[in-house]
Amino acid sequence: MPIYRKEGIVPPKRHIVFRQPNGELYHEELFGTEGFSGMSSLVYHLHPPTMVKSYGEPYSVRPTIAVEDNLQARSYQSFKAKPCDDYIKSRKTLFVNSDMSIGVAAPSKSMTDYFFKNADADEMIFVHKGSGTLRTMYGNIPFEYGDYLIIPRGTVYQFHFDTNDNHFLIVESHGPIETPNRYRNSYGQFMEHSPFCERDFKFPVDMETRDEQGDFLINIKKRGLIYPYVYGNHPFDVAGWDGCSYPYAFSIFNFEPITGRIHMPPPIHQTFQGRNFVICSFVPRLYDYHPDAIPAPYHHSNVDSDELLYYVDGDFMSRNNIQKGQITLHPGGIPHGPHPGAIERSIGKKETQELAVMIDPFNPVQITTEALEMELADYYQSWMEKPVLTEA
Ligand SMILES: [Fe+2]
Repeated sequence: MPIYRKEGIVPPKRHIVFRQPNGELYHEELFGTEGFSGMSSLVYHLHPPTMVKSYGEPYSVRPTIAVEDNLQARSYQSFKAKPCDDYIKSRKTLFVNSDMSIGVAAPSKSMTDYFFKNADADEMIFVHKGSGTLRTMYGNIPFEYGDYLIIPRGTVYQFHFDTNDNHFLIVESHGPIETPNRYRNSYGQFMEHSPFCERDFKFPVDMETRDEQGDFLINIKKRGLIYPYVYGNHPFDVAGWDGCSYPYAFSIFNFEPITGRIHMPPPIHQTFQGRNFVICSFVPRLYDYHPDAIPAPYHHSNVDSDELLYYVDGDFMSRNNIQKGQITLHPGGIPHGPHPGAIERSIGKKETQELAVMIDPFNPVQITTEALEMELADYYQSWMEKPVLTEA
C-alpha cells in the first residue's frame, strides 16, 4: 500500500539508538515482502522477534489436485464448505496455479490458542459472512460483511469473530496484492478517475503493545506445510512502526462503479492486481443509458485467462439459477456469455443490484478434490437450456 503510516512511537531517524524507559534498546525490524526494494515498514519491538523456544513436527495442508488440465466451464456451491472450529482446517483450497491459490473458509471459532502466519503468500480475504477483528502487530482491523482484507505475507495474525457464522473467499498470491497501477499517479496517489481513493481504506488501529513472556504458538505456513513454532514473547510486542507495508481493509461497498451509455468492459471493475491475475468488484449500479443499450455483457472470448466469478448477493443479470456463494469457472480457450434469455431480459432495465467478486488468473488453474465435492454437474451444458425470459 503506497500510503505512509505511523503508529505508536518511532525514533527521529531510522537505525539509530532508541531506548525503552527501562534503558534497554528497542528491537528494530525491517518488514517487507520484496527484498529491500519493495514496500516495507520499520517495526520497534520490546523484545527480539527471533526468540524461538521450540518447534513441532510440520504437517501438510497441500491440496490434492483432481483435475490438472481443464477446458470445461464448471460451477461450485461454496456454501457446501462446512463450518469448522479451527481456522487453519477451515481453509479449503479449490483452485491453484503457480501464481496463486483460491479457496473458501467457514471458521466458526475465534483463534485463541495460536497465531497464524502465511509465509507463502499475500492473502486477500473477502468477508461474505461474519464480522469481528483481525489482530496484528500493526494494530487491529475491525471487519464486516463486504470487506476485502489484504494481509502481506509474513504478517502474524489472529481472527476474533463476533459470531460462529463466517464465510470467506480467500486468494493466496505468491506476489504482492496491490491496487491497480493505472489508478495511481507516479507519486502513488489515487487519481480522480479511480473508483476508490485513500479515504476508503481501513487501516490498523488500537495497536496492542503486549509485554508478555510465555509460550506463544505461531503456526507458520511455508510451501504448503504448517510449522508449529513456539516463541517466548507475545508477537504483538510492538511500541511503534512506520512505513508502507501493513495489512488493511477495503469494503466492496466503497467501490464506486463506472458506468456509460453502452456496455463498459470488465476492467472498469478492477479492484486489485497481482502477479498474473486481477480481482474485480461487480457492485450495484445504474445500467447503460443509450436508448438501445444492451446491459447484459456480450459473449466474449477469454483465450488468455481463466475467469472465476464468486456471486455474493443480488440478482445476477447474466446467469440463471445462481445461488449466493456460487462460483463459476470459465476457462481460457472457449468463449462464454450470458445464459439463454439473459440478453433479451436485460434490455430496458435501469439498474442492477448484483454483487460479485471476479478473479481472473492469467495462467490456467488446476482443480482440487475439495472443489469437486462442491461441484454442480453439467454446468458446461447450461447454455443449451430453454431461455428464461422472465425474472426469477
Ligand atoms: Fe466473462
